[in-house]
Amino acid sequence: MQALLEMRGISKSYGSVRANRGINFTVQPGQIVGLLGENGSGKSTLMKVLFGMVRADEGAIVYRGRELDAGSPKAALQAGIAMIHQHFTLVEAMTVSENLMLGWSARGGPWLDHAAMAGQVRDAAQRYGLDIDPAARVERLALGEKQRIEILKAILRGAGLLILDEPTSILSPPEIARLLEFLQRFRAEGHSVVFITHKLGEVLAVADEIVVLRDGEVVGTTPAAGATRESLARMMVGRELAAPAERRSATPGAVRLKVEALAARDNNGAERLKDASFELRAGEVLALAGIDGNGQGELANTLAGLAAPLRGRIFLDGVDITAGGAAARLEAGIAYIPADRSGTSLVQGMSIEDNLMLRDISRRPFSVAGRIDRQATGRAARERMRDFDVRAASPAAAARTLSGGNQQKVALARELSRQPQVVIAFQPTWGLDPGATRFVMESLLKLRDQGAAVLYISSELEEVLAVGDRVGVLSDGRIVLLADRSEADIERIGLAMAGAFQEAA
Ligand SMILES: Nc1ncnc2c1ncn2[C@@H]1O[C@H](COP(=O)(O)OP(=O)(O)OP(=O)(O)O)[C@@H](O)[C@H]1O
Ligand SMILES: [Mg+2]
Repeated sequence: MQALLEMRGISKSYGSVRANRGINFTVQPGQIVGLLGENGSGKSTLMKVLFGMVRADEGAIVYRGRELDAGSPKAALQAGIAMIHQHFTLVEAMTVSENLMLGWSARGGPWLDHAAMAGQVRDAAQRYGLDIDPAARVERLALGEKQRIEILKAILRGAGLLILDEPTSILSPPEIARLLEFLQRFRAEGHSVVFITHKLGEVLAVADEIVVLRDGEVVGTTPAAGATRESLARMMVGRELAAPAERRSATPGAVRLKVEALAARDNNGAERLKDASFELRAGEVLALAGIDGNGQGELANTLAGLAAPLRGRIFLDGVDITAGGAAARLEAGIAYIPADRSGTSLVQGMSIEDNLMLRDISRRPFSVAGRIDRQATGRAARERMRDFDVRAASPAAAARTLSGGNQQKVALARELSRQPQVVIAFQPTWGLDPGATRFVMESLLKLRDQGAAVLYISSELEEVLAVGDRVGVLSDGRIVLLADRSEADIERIGLAMAGAFQEAA
């Protein structure tokens, strides 16, 4: 059988960083290939080379038996390759079907016809379980829905190979299940998929073959059937994983943060957070599970001072801080780790060093009499990079040159290295590989042991259970369940996440 895709001897360097080194990568027709590797191992680079967004220094790409023009996304698209990016390319002010028609109008025919397009959308929705309202305006849609539109766009264009770069990190568990089901249906029609994820369970569930990269090289190729989480993790890091650090029990102190009946609107004006009340003590981690869109983002943003609440009050050490903005919260010792590293937490054009030192640069010992001590900031930045295992050519490199996971590590290093008293962590492990995820949780527990109060908001039940001294569930804008770690009932938490207790609250 002729392979659908053969990438041969692909090498790509960025300055001194060898992102891809002599990679051979093959995809068969009707195959789902899982692409794994630690943060910065070269996965996105390889897929950008395939899609023509990045030109390789060496190597060739053969697709359906023909060599593909290098460095041309247009050639890749025309050949039938589609890539779903983490950041979508939709026009927000237009409807779903208008977006789907973009790029087709030149061809005329049925694509100019709204009714025909709506029919196509419904048909694909039915065939693949990708239901979307063709008349909905994109700006009103959740991330998961936008992703479905991007996938639909690829299908309508007749894509035979779909590349998905970490598609599940923005999805809720039911949406993830739906995406994986779609991938299987797509494969059943003879199409192929390259699927990048850090969630080993996901690749084991759907991939036929798994390819593992380390430091820009292929270090293993294995059928998914014979692999386990442990064998994959070992391949990724190249050694046995250490046992997780022993978890010490919490010794909670005084109440640091107190939240009373907090409510907030989302960007579209809908009241997403409806009534959240809780206390957070020094020396404890309160972990809130919940499916995205149930008020998590609004809770995190109002606590960080980035958005004003609609109702309710926030107290820090008994002082009402509801009215203060983000700067005041920072000044008061509240650190905020947002999920969206590229949007809110990093200045992409600035160096890694400046991003790391952003919050400290104007104070002692980094600034004296208005002058920045570059030696001191450089030393601290290198220390933070080492502690958080930020992999980059140098601290002087621009943040945008970092891999996705390494950007998140910079955001984490900046906030957590300052020994914050109160930490608001919203999906902090977004895009991190398993090793880095574990490191983040251990770092937060260490801060807790030093007396910090930590609020951990996540859609990953596994993480919530691993890190929380108390665990709760945020559902439909309310905290519907709150229990000590020792009394947490996983089944009840799962039910609460799915909305089972909304009426009772
Ligand atoms: N535009 C760029 N300029 C300079 N270096 C880059 C650029 N893009 C990627 N790199 C470097 O290439 C290496 C591989 O990055 P890549 O984004 O492919 O990793 P990845 O496997 O996708 O990681 P992650 O899981 O964190 O997304 C990293 O060291 C990264 O810093
Ligand atoms: Mg990547």
